[in-house]
Order: sequence, then structure tokens, then C-alpha cells
Amino acid sequence: MYAIASDHAGLPLKRSIEEHLKERGIEYKDYGTDTEASCDYAVFGKRACDAVMRGECERAILCCGTGVGISIAANKVRGIRCVCCSDPYSAAMGRRHNDANALAIGARVVGTELANFIVDAFLDAAFEGDRHARRVGQIMAIERGEEIE
Ligand code: RB5
Repeated sequence: MYAIASDHAGLPLKRSIEEHLKERGIEYKDYGTDTEASCDYAVFGKRACDAVMRGECERAILCCGTGVGISIAANKVRGIRCVCCSDPYSAAMGRRHNDANALAIGARVVGTELANFIVDAFLDAAFEGDRHARRVGQIMAIERGEEIE
């Protein structure tokens, strides 16, 4: 189960990604927004990321105008490692090297077809562990306020 969320600016891209997930047979839960009324990306990004951290969803896919605001908000949720991507390579490497558990895409930056490639890259790549596990561990230590050197 994937969590998906957007603000008003990200809503059209979120709808398009939802169609893509349906075509791929991937289950998702939509944490809003569901109207074009202006709203605050942090609220919806946090809802989706909280679901990931509660273990109800595997990972989150988030959309706002740039992908930037919602990714910054997502990365403030303890345990979330969100990558804001405009290309499939970064999305795949975010999984393989950074064990990203959230993906943000900007609806005003990325077209719907490219977004599908980015989503696929994120869905299909796996964390490689090994030296990357040490580095991700350091990121999580920073989050806990620990020294890492
Ligand atoms: C909303 O206008 C816009 O600021 C928001 O979607 C996002 O791009 C912020 O980072």
C-alpha cells in the first residue's frame, strides 16, 4: 500500500499518478487534498508520511507545485527520507543508495508522462544496503541529534 498526497497545485499530477498506479495494479491510499481550493502542502504531506511511519503504507508519493515544499515538510517527519525528483535516475538512486521512503514531484515542473517514469523508477528500485546502510544510518543519527564523526 502506497500513501499519496498533494496540495491544490499538485492535485492534477496526483490524479494522473493515481491512474498510473491503478494501471500497474498498485494499491494506494489518498491522504488529500481532493479539491482545487488553495491549501497547505505540509498538512497533506504530513498525513501521508505519518501513515508510512505508522506502518500502514510502505512509502509515500507527494505532489505540490515544485515538489520542494512538500518534500521539505516530509523530511521533518521523523523517519522520513523524502527525495524531490525531476528525473527517473535520481528517483531510482534515492531508493538504491538513500533508502528513500517518500518521493516528491513538482506538478509545475514535471509533465505527466515523465512523472510516470519517475514513479516507476522509485517503485521498482530496491535499497542496496552495505556501505549505503552506514550512510543512511548517519542521516538517521543526525535526526536523533547525535554526533556522526
Ligand atoms: C503553491 O502555490 C505552491 O507554493 C506549492 O504547491 C509548492 O510549490 C511549494 O513548495
